Amino acid sequence: MREKIKQIEAAALEAIGGAQSVQSLDDAGVRFLGKKSEFMELLKSLGALTPEARPGVGALINEVKDKLENAIRAKKIVLLQAAQHQKIEAEKIDVTMPGKGIRRGRAHPISQVMAEAKHIFFRLGYELAEGPDIESDHYNFDGLNIPPHHPSRDMWSTLFVEGNLLLRTHTSPVQIRVMEKRKPPLAIIAPGRVYRRDSDATHSSVFHQLEGFLVDNKVTFGDLKGTLTEFLRQMFGKEKKVRFRPSFFPFTEPSAEVDVECVMCDGKGCRLCKNTGWLEILGSGMIDPNVFSGVGYDPEKFTGFAFGMGIERIAMLKYGVDNIRLFFENDLRFLEQF
Ligand code: PHE
Repeated sequence: MREKIKQIEAAALEAIGGAQSVQSLDDAGVRFLGKKSEFMELLKSLGALTPEARPGVGALINEVKDKLENAIRAKKIVLLQAAQHQKIEAEKIDVTMPGKGIRRGRAHPISQVMAEAKHIFFRLGYELAEGPDIESDHYNFDGLNIPPHHPSRDMWSTLFVEGNLLLRTHTSPVQIRVMEKRKPPLAIIAPGRVYRRDSDATHSSVFHQLEGFLVDNKVTFGDLKGTLTEFLRQMFGKEKKVRFRPSFFPFTEPSAEVDVECVMCDGKGCRLCKNTGWLEILGSGMIDPNVFSGVGYDPEKFTGFAFGMGIERIAMLKYGVDNIRLFFENDLRFLEQF
């Protein structure tokens, strides 16, 4: 009988030692120490032993039982700890891994300059107007004192759509649209996209203009000069030189183009300013009496000035960019610098 007990003990210890999970450990416990186990059967058969042998064997059985129970308890702790460790390992987060960065967006430099230009004029009391990109030749040309077949139409390399429709070559048609509908006094700005068959380092077939005009009964060329000088001072700072140069536009008389000192060469002459030291940024003039007559204003009663500027041109000047294409290529390495 003692031998049998020792055999069971050895088998049980092996099963306990080899248990890989709490489940298999519990199974071993039931198998070796449970009510129906061989071990418990032995306990019941103690009665069949001689009275002399009984206490010794009984003590041995209890001793082995305690030993096995302790072994199970100890093994259970080991298994539970291992399971917990495994769980922690599986859920581990490497806090040193690089995170997913969120890139911050920003307004395109052309939008930024457009917004700035608009706000300068808003502060001067101008209000906003808009017109369509696809225009009729009435608004783009005729209303602006540019009759059909007149050579001055050559000033704009027009992209035609069909019939009398074209892609507006400037924002000046908005002058006519507003004046046809409203009476002076008017102080209007009209921003927008314009189109020309034109393309080099400083010209693009699509670009942006900001048109402005002011009509009242005593507007002078001095008002034009003062307004545009104030605008350019706010846009470029006081230190940049500005000049008004006599020019021609069919819809203004007299006309002036306004130049700002070249930023690339500080007026010395370079590729950007085509060696003139100056960059043309806007056209302007006193609104031609013919334009007023066309919209039903009495040219004896009203005077006004108008101007149109290229936004890309201003952005190039402000930021020292020497190729207009950089604004349209959408290379983030360029755009992120603004
Ligand atoms: N529309 C002219 C251009 O695009 C600019 C301009 C506007 C000139 C208003 C005078 C007055 O060239």
